[in-house]
Amino acid sequence: MSFYHWTIRPLLFGLEAERAHEYGIDALRIALSSAQAQKLAVKRFGGESSAALFRFGLKFDNPLGIAAGFDKNGVVVNQLAALGFGHVEVGTVTYEPQRGNEKPRLFRLPEDQALINRLGFNNQGAVRIAERLKKLERECVVGVNIGKNKDVPIEEATENYLRSLDLVHNAADYITVNVSSPNTPNLRELQRTENLEELLGTLQGRNRELGQKPLLVKISPDLTEAEIDMIVDTCLRLEVSGIIATNTTTSREGLKTPNAAEFGAGGLSGRPLAERSNEVIRTIYRHSKGTLPIIGVGGIFSGQDAFEKIAAGACLLQAYTGFIYHGPSFASDINAGLAAIIKERGFANIDEAIGSEA
Ligand code: FNR
Repeated sequence: MSFYHWTIRPLLFGLEAERAHEYGIDALRIALSSAQAQKLAVKRFGGESSAALFRFGLKFDNPLGIAAGFDKNGVVVNQLAALGFGHVEVGTVTYEPQRGNEKPRLFRLPEDQALINRLGFNNQGAVRIAERLKKLERECVVGVNIGKNKDVPIEEATENYLRSLDLVHNAADYITVNVSSPNTPNLRELQRTENLEELLGTLQGRNRELGQKPLLVKISPDLTEAEIDMIVDTCLRLEVSGIIATNTTTSREGLKTPNAAEFGAGGLSGRPLAERSNEVIRTIYRHSKGTLPIIGVGGIFSGQDAFEKIAAGACLLQAYTGFIYHGPSFASDINAGLAAIIKERGFANIDEAIGSEA
């Protein structure tokens, strides 16, 4: 039990969940100016360049990033780097600013070490967020995750994504196309082959014109094996740089929280997602024969959880819910735990362990 577990967390968990998140972001911003965070990050990683990983032509200080949805507006990127995250995925960003769904829309399930959210892409919009990121002297890799405005019909989705891509392209080290949030009506239909082909083909074309950056796609855990295989084929055909697996699930199977149904619709994240996410990672790894880079996300709470995703086929990792439950030491703990397991198992480095149990 750390200081966070017995002091800060009870205070935060005593608050309504979204309010606690806002305080958390404010605390990071106030306690650590971006410039201070920069110094801290330099100090933390200064002597450890040998642990750096090269993925999609980018240099990552360590394998663990903070997943999309935590820093939706890109306001605490360097602070998150100072806490030990090797990359920050900002967003989801939409072309027009959006307020998101009615509150309350974020719920904790402590018995399950899980969260349910139906935020619905609340964000300040691509113009403002891109401007903010362009000014930032960043201390880690910064991805920008783009999605569709709620009021744009699915037939006009491509145009809406293109506008966001144009705006964020210059501000991002890599770009994620989010087609898997359960909280924007019909969004997940974009994962169907015809739709995905059109969307990713058009975005990849524009990406090339703008000076190619790594373009990834983030998928849902609620897909069949056949659907995942088709997505992998589409990604390989269009030379997409990688898949982020997975987003939150609409499933409520196996939860211990007795009143989970009362929270209503939304995406479930955290511990209950871990095994399903690993299955999706294994399916992608096997079907692509290890040729399609995978960022593994869903239910990482320990070094062991992180290792399982690497062994299933992931080459990078992300987490969100584990950070809420474990606090500021989370990223360092996971990175240290993972490094210890890699060594214990006799792998020379992470690269050797990728897909070792796929
Ligand atoms: C998310 N997630 C998410 N994903 C995304 O692509 N865009 C988004 O805007 C959000 N927003 C969001 C808000 C909240 C409150 C949560 C908990 C999650 C999904 C997130 O990035 C990740 O894929 C899942 O949460 C699974 O990882 P964890 O939380 O189990 O580590």
